[in-house]
Amino acid sequence: METGLAGKRVLVTGASGGIGSACARAFAAEGAEVIAHYHRGRERAEALGAVTVLGADLTDEEQVDHLFAEAGRLDVCAAVAGIWPAEDVPVWELSLERWRATLDANLTATFLTARAFLRQLEGDGSLVLVGSTAGLFGEAGHADYAASKSAIIGGLLLSLKNEVVRRSPRARVNAVAPGWTESPMTRGHVSDEQVRRVSRTMALRKVAQPDDVARQVVVLASPHLSGHVTGQVVTVAGGMEGRVVHE
Ligand SMILES: NC(=O)c1ccc[n+]([C@@H]2O[C@H](COP(=O)([O-])OP(=O)(O)OC[C@H]3O[C@@H](n4cnc5c(N)ncnc54)[C@H](OP(=O)(O)O)[C@@H]3O)[C@@H](O)[C@H]2O)c1
Repeated sequence: METGLAGKRVLVTGASGGIGSACARAFAAEGAEVIAHYHRGRERAEALGAVTVLGADLTDEEQVDHLFAEAGRLDVCAAVAGIWPAEDVPVWELSLERWRATLDANLTATFLTARAFLRQLEGDGSLVLVGSTAGLFGEAGHADYAASKSAIIGGLLLSLKNEVVRRSPRARVNAVAPGWTESPMTRGHVSDEQVRRVSRTMALRKVAQPDDVARQVVVLASPHLSGHVTGQVVTVAGGMEGRVVHE
């Protein structure tokens, strides 16, 4: 089916990562002109091939604004970049330093990205945010991550949905909420036993592949497929219903 993305200028943040690189490839396959953002993984972004590659630390206001100035006019932005501190730490032991770093890398970076994208928006435009099932169900040992992702797919998304149309009457913003997805972020955390455990609340008992998420990002970004869809969160987690709390 035609997505209407051919020739559109698309910035994917976190395109050096697992889900972001799948998004960059999926947009390129639709004929979009892809600008692939990286932070530390320049070579991984360059390995994507026929795309423009730009670096920035998205927690830094100046670097974000410089990135968008270099990127030029954009039709679509997929704000994929983010971090998941792997260590399990309950709130009563969680350092303020980690809390702030996680909120900065996920929520503040998404705010700065959305702001810069909207400042340059002229015609129709589409912004796709990336949350997580942690933002829907919580994640014990990762309250910082869960809180940052809830804020993205809750207050930020729903406010943006009503604001973007002031910039452009047909502009849209949506989000995906992936569950466990095989990527560098989860490498070493998806043993067979862990997959058995986390998939116990999922109708489709599998850990997602980055392409599973990327296809939904493309569908939401597409003006043809999702032209009347805004403010929505699509959960890509095989029908997950929550977390296993007790064995
Ligand atoms: N994998 C999962 O199970 C899962 C589940 C739910 C949600 N998600 C979300 O999906 C998104 C992508 O995750 P992933 O699995 O693809 O992880 P990943 O492979 O670790 O990729 C993370 C990406 O974010 C970039 N990044 C991190 N900190 C940054 C910063 N300060 N400034 C700019 N870029 C920064 C990284 O850049 P460099 O590598 O270049 O430094 C990388 O491109 C994240 O928002 C994550 O929270 C993932």
